[in-house]
Amino acid sequence: MAANPIKQNTSDQKMINPLTTLSDVLKDDMKAVNTVIMSKMYSDVALIPQLASHLIAAGGKRLRPLLTIATAKLCGYEGNRHHDLAACVEFIHTATLLHDDVVDESDQRRGKDSANQVFGNEAAVLVGDFLFSRAFQLMVKDGSLDVLRILSNASAVIAEGEVMQLTTANNINTTYDQYIEVITAKTAALFAAACEVGGVVAEQDGTITKALYDYGLNLGIAFQIADDVLDYKADPEKLGKSIGDDFKEGKMTLPIIYALENSNEDERSFWTDVIVNAASDDEKLQKAIEICAKYDCFNKALTQADLYKNRAITALDALPEHEIKALLINTADYVLNRSL
Ligand code: IPE
Ligand code: IPE
Ligand code: MG
Ligand code: MG
Repeated sequence: MAANPIKQNTSDQKMINPLTTLSDVLKDDMKAVNTVIMSKMYSDVALIPQLASHLIAAGGKRLRPLLTIATAKLCGYEGNRHHDLAACVEFIHTATLLHDDVVDESDQRRGKDSANQVFGNEAAVLVGDFLFSRAFQLMVKDGSLDVLRILSNASAVIAEGEVMQLTTANNINTTYDQYIEVITAKTAALFAAACEVGGVVAEQDGTITKALYDYGLNLGIAFQIADDVLDYKADPEKLGKSIGDDFKEGKMTLPIIYALENSNEDERSFWTDVIVNAASDDEKLQKAIEICAKYDCFNKALTQADLYKNRAITALDALPEHEIKALLINTADYVLNRSL
């Protein structure tokens, strides 16, 4: 068994961001992934690399490509197909961010003015399409029909999730199950695909690729629940995004669903005003946060995220003990405690 540099449950461990450790352990691979990202975002149409690099150079956690590289390594892969595929996963993610910020009318991303804010909605949508197309070129270059199936399915499911979300927004009758369906599609599907592809390039059997898929799917659900809590509670400086965007859009996220379950008549009419009529301002945002705090809705949401996190960790039981497996377990803990 490989030595595990990360000891769990020690006070030292709490101070280490597992993503930093994972990036460090996988730094040569991530360097290769970045080279692919930089070269493939190029186009002779100058606005494309200009807009794409505005977002890509701003960084981002690179969590999804890290998952592809980590899962491939965990399965003993020693080739270099995973570099292109991790870049492909990041392109799909980046394309969805460009589109998502237009749809959500968000003006901050990765600590900078969002691309739609700087370059306009039209350019942001079209460069998002370009990045999606680049992702497909990378899949074709890889040549595996399994990889193409997994990542093209995920791309379609993400779009379905974002459209589904349009139909649950401004609807105070949105249920827990509908919320989970939306976030599974819009976020968790790509986490699942990113992990499954790592197993597929390493030619693992169905039991292993399914376990990796389950890890990614549950991790992605936990990640998005945490993101939805952060949209009310984070330090915007650290998060790199504006706070209250979901509220402003009348999005029915988990803290609001829990708040509605407990609200008295007065509070219910408040939610109807702000969610159904999308009548929100900073004062109303503060009131929403107070009601959520009163009914402990942020903690309840994080408890639910914890359940998905544990499912993610349990899925890894099918994988052999390995330094990277321990880091993937720590990554699952991190998604709940993150501030960015
Ligand atoms: C943002 O994802 C979109 C969500 C699914 C919430 P990340 O928080 O991983 O974004 P970057 O890539 O680090 O900026
Ligand atoms: C992100 O959902 C989902 C996708 C990008 C597909 P959010 O709307 O919560 O993401 P942020 O908060 O804008 O990053
Ligand atoms: Mg958004
Ligand atoms: Mg969000």
